[in-house]
Amino acid sequence: MPEVVFAPSILAADFGRLVEEVESVKEVAESVHVDVMDGHFVPNITIGPVVANSLKDSDRVEVPLSIHLMIEDPWKYGPEFDVDSEDLIIFHSEVTDREPELIERLRNQGSKVGISQKPASPVEDVIPLLEDLDEVLVMGVEPGFGGQEFMPETLERIEKLKDVIRSNGYDTVVSVDGGMDPSTVGQVVEAGADKIIAGSAIFGKEDRVKAVEDMKAALT
Ligand code: DX5
Ligand code: ZN
Repeated sequence: MPEVVFAPSILAADFGRLVEEVESVKEVAESVHVDVMDGHFVPNITIGPVVANSLKDSDRVEVPLSIHLMIEDPWKYGPEFDVDSEDLIIFHSEVTDREPELIERLRNQGSKVGISQKPASPVEDVIPLLEDLDEVLVMGVEPGFGGQEFMPETLERIEKLKDVIRSNGYDTVVSVDGGMDPSTVGQVVEAGADKIIAGSAIFGKEDRVKAVEDMKAALT
């Protein structure tokens, strides 16, 4: 199987010791995934630019951040995240019908840009955008909460997206977010995923490095 990278999701971390939690995964993380929720787009509220920017500012946080915006107004709040060329900002296609313009706006902030969708949204909506995106994040669960069970219908979505990416020679990364653990990673990688985003399966374990190694081992 191809080389797969991991982005631990801090939604399952101890928010009282966020910097230490990020340090605990730095050697196995391609990036750290930051779930931003507004209580409108999803029925939960998490953190916003104030916390993400202070993580970014910390000398002890050496890994890039992936900011997953599960919010209704990425036009307003997207620009409030301090990001650089290593970081990634992901917005949801459902919140705008001017995706190319939003991609451009976010890219002008200097980061990579990705798109995501809720499981019920048609993947066909994002296919024309793939060429302009660094990443497409496929939700393996209904966004809003960690610790949910992987939805198997996600596999077909990954396959469709990967097929377009491969046949056109795009370098868009396919990531999968939600329900990832050693029992589910194999199927998504087989379907075409390049990156695994996992919260509970990493921060829910005492030994985070081993937790990622266990998922890697499930891929061999
Ligand atoms: C869900 C979030 C995910 C979440 C995944 O809305 O976007 O990033 O943290 O959590 P697990 O890995 O526990 O399913
Ligand atoms: Zn997420």
